[in-house]
Formats: sequence, structure tokens, C-alpha cells
Amino acid sequence: MMEALDKAGPAPDWPAIFKKLPKDDEDNIQWMAALSSKLIQPSSGISPDTPQPEVRDLDVELETSGKPTRYVTFSHEVHTTWLRCANCHPAIFKRSAGDAKITMAEIDDGKYCGVCHDKVALAPDGCKGCHKPPKKKS
Ligand code: HEC
Ligand code: HEC
Ligand code: HEC
Repeated sequence: MMEALDKAGPAPDWPAIFKKLPKDDEDNIQWMAALSSKLIQPSSGISPDTPQPEVRDLDVELETSGKPTRYVTFSHEVHTTWLRCANCHPAIFKRSAGDAKITMAEIDDGKYCGVCHDKVALAPDGCKGCHKPPKKKS
């Protein structure tokens, strides 16, 4: 299994690359920005034959808390750039908008978004990385 990695050649200069990565005010790496600017170009799997994930452009408004200042627009486009559907569906979320009754306490407890965020993934800019003003309904 390690063969493909070995073929990648000598290890890159990670500290130098780390310094170049875009950061927010709290020094969190802005991974989406790093990816969009092609500063990083991750492989989609250990095997060189792993196909690119299927990117899905679908926003879901999360507003079950009923607190408009806290509503979150979940971007499938952002997430399917890195992950496959099965990373979230159906174990973490059903494929049905409004089904998950998400609270911040549960996220902090490692459920829903907290399965990944604050662990392997960060929302840049802290609270306002996820909580933006709600989109106007058309
Ligand atoms: C990884 C994304 C994410 C981050 C980061 C995040 N939140 Fe949330 N938060 C959510 C989601 C999703 C909900 C549910 C949205 C809804 O239905 O309104 C929520 C709900 C809330 C609610 C309303 C529900 C409740 O449990 O009271 C509050 C208040 C809240 N967040 C505060 C915060 C604060 C303060 C921070 C920063 C310390 C923060 N959040 C950071 C995703 C996030
Ligand atoms: C990082 C997690 C994550 C990934 C990966 C993901 N989704 Fe989702 N998906 C969600 C969340 C969160 C919701 C909203 C669930 C809720 O509100 O209860 C959702 C909802 C949906 C819905 C319902 C939308 C609606 O309007 O009812 C569909 C359809 C869906 N996802 C399809 C997909 C497909 C197809 C993929 C892969 C290409 C995918 N999702 C990948 C998190 C994810
Ligand atoms: C299966 C893991 C996983 C789950 C579950 C997940 N995310 Fe993410 N999320 C990621 C990854 C990976 C990234 C990209 C790397 C990063 O930004 O740290 C990301 C990035 C983000 C970003 C940053 C987007 C940008 O443009 O920089 C936001 C905001 C976000 N997620 C919100 C959420 C919310 C809200 C939920 C819950 C409804 C959620 N995520 C659930 C893995 C996950």
C-alpha cells in the first residue's frame, strides 16, 4: 500500500510550505484558500488510480435552532472537494435538509459538524467561519 507514496520522491520541505499557507487572524490555516489558489494539490487517495471526488454544488440552510443570527449555510461544494458522500451520509447526516437538530453543545461534544471540525478540519475565523448572516430567501 505504501508503494505509491514512496514513488512520490523525496519529502517536500514541509516547514517552508507551512509558512506559505494562508492563515486567518487566529493563525488557523485556510485550507480552502490554499486549495483554490493551487498552493496545495492533494491526491484523492493513496492509490494513484483513485478518482477525483465528485464535487456537488448544493447549499443547505441550517436553521433548526430558530436563532437567525446563528444560522449556517452548509456548502456541499466546499466539502465534496475534500470528502466523499459516504464520509457524511448516512452515518452523520441524513440526505434531508432540516433533519439534523444541531446544537452547539453537540458540536462541541464531537457530534454533527464536530465529528471533523476542531479536529482534522477547522472553520477559519472561528465562530464567524460557520455563522454568517442568513441568506435572503427569494
Ligand atoms: C463548524 C461550524 C461551526 C462553528 C465553528 C461554530 N458553530 Fe455554532 N452552530 C453550528 C451549526 C451548524 C448550528 C446549528 C444552526 C442552526 O440550526 O441555527 C450552530 C448553532 C449555534 C447556536 C444556536 C443553537 C444553540 O446550540 O444554542 C449558537 C448560540 C452558536 N452556534 C454559537 C456559536 C459560537 C459562539 C461559536 C464560536 C465559539 C460557534 N457557534 C462556532 C456550526 C458551527
Ligand atoms: C461533510 C459532510 C457532507 C458530505 C461529504 C456530503 N453531505 Fe450531503 N448533507 C450534509 C448536511 C449537513 C446536510 C443537511 C442535513 C440536515 O439538514 O439534516 C446534507 C444534505 C444533503 C441532501 C438533502 C438536501 C435537501 O435539500 O434536502 C442531499 C440530496 C445530499 N446531502 C447529497 C449529498 C451528496 C450526493 C454528496 C456527495 C456528492 C453529499 N451530500 C456529501 C453533509 C454532507
Ligand atoms: C466528515 C468531516 C466533516 C464534517 C462532518 C463537516 N465538515 Fe466542514 N470541513 C471539512 C473539511 C475537510 C473542510 C476543509 C478543510 C478545512 O477548511 O479545514 C471543511 C471546511 C469547512 C468550512 C470552511 C470553508 C472555507 O471556505 O474555508 C466551513 C465553514 C465548514 N466546513 C462548515 C461545516 C459545517 C457547518 C458542518 C456541519 C453542518 C461541517 N462543516 C461538517 C470536514 C467536515
